[in-house]
Amino acid sequence: MWDNLYDVRDKFCSRKSVRNYLNVSLDQDVIKVLMEIGYSGPVSGGLRCVFIKEISNSEEKYICYKGTYYQKHVLRAPHIFLIGCNDSIIEEKYNGEFVNIFSCQNSVIAAQNIIIAAHEMGIGTCFVGAIRKDVIIDGLKLDKGYNPWCILCLGIGRDDNIGI
Ligand SMILES: Cc1cc2nc3c(=O)[nH]c(=O)nc-3n(C[C@H](O)[C@H](O)[C@H](O)COP(=O)(O)O)c2cc1C
Repeated sequence: MWDNLYDVRDKFCSRKSVRNYLNVSLDQDVIKVLMEIGYSGPVSGGLRCVFIKEISNSEEKYICYKGTYYQKHVLRAPHIFLIGCNDSIIEEKYNGEFVNIFSCQNSVIAAQNIIIAAHEMGIGTCFVGAIRKDVIIDGLKLDKGYNPWCILCLGIGRDDNIGI
């Protein structure tokens, strides 16, 4: 029944954060599928509160760079997702005590789904959790209630991939 047990383990355990990328853009189909996979994770109360925003232009990218304490791979990555939750939706169902923790948990699950799927597709990712929310919310003019938790860098990894 679990014939592929060790293949699955090897697939998951071979993932590494990728911070150097080939100058290759991913097809929009691939981006769309990765987003769908992100949205397919478990979510508190089955709410549709997660947002995955593709950062599409250089101005927005610079804001993300600044909003991650100037981590260079955020600038280098061919694609960036900003992932978070619309907390207003969570607030409608849950009281204050749960809003922040569910917001974070939902977002990180979405990110991890994408990380694993991307790895399976041969696409490298780096989870960037050190973010300055104020810089990102103000800079990207996020709507009220939108609470960003992480940035995901995506791209085809270079052979000389190195750490931070
Ligand atoms: C909560 C969290 C926050 C992280 N924040 C950052 C970050 O801000 N910048 C970065 O380059 N990597 C970040 N990482 C990635 C870790 O540095 C990385 O996963 C860890 O060093 C293990 O390496 P590996 O992913 O290659 O296995 C973060 C990972 C987690 C889980």
